[in-house]
Amino acid sequence: MGWTKLATVGELPPDSVIEVEHEGERYAICNAGGEMRALSGVCPHHGGPLGQGTVIQGLLVCPWHMWEFDSKSGVCLVDPTRGVPTFPVKVEGTRVYVDIPENA
Ligand code: FES
Repeated sequence: MGWTKLATVGELPPDSVIEVEHEGERYAICNAGGEMRALSGVCPHHGGPLGQGTVIQGLLVCPWHMWEFDSKSGVCLVDPTRGVPTFPVKVEGTRVYVDIPENA
């Protein structure tokens, strides 16, 4: 699928996250301290909507049971065996692109 525009800079003030659905997949697009990041939007705990969570000091926090994930690496701080896939992000002008793998 490759680079795909999933958000605009204006939708993502510092330390925020939005949920974006694209071709049946959910993504959590974050602004973590000014750096745009993209993760799967599905929490590995019980499928909570990570894109409806919160961003605190670089961590993405699931809204359902407050599991915390490193928004850059996807590593879960509660259970390191249950991380979240992350995807490369680039910003061009006001557009936020995510490099979605072909099999995503
Ligand atoms: S579903 Fe995300 S912490 Fe439980």
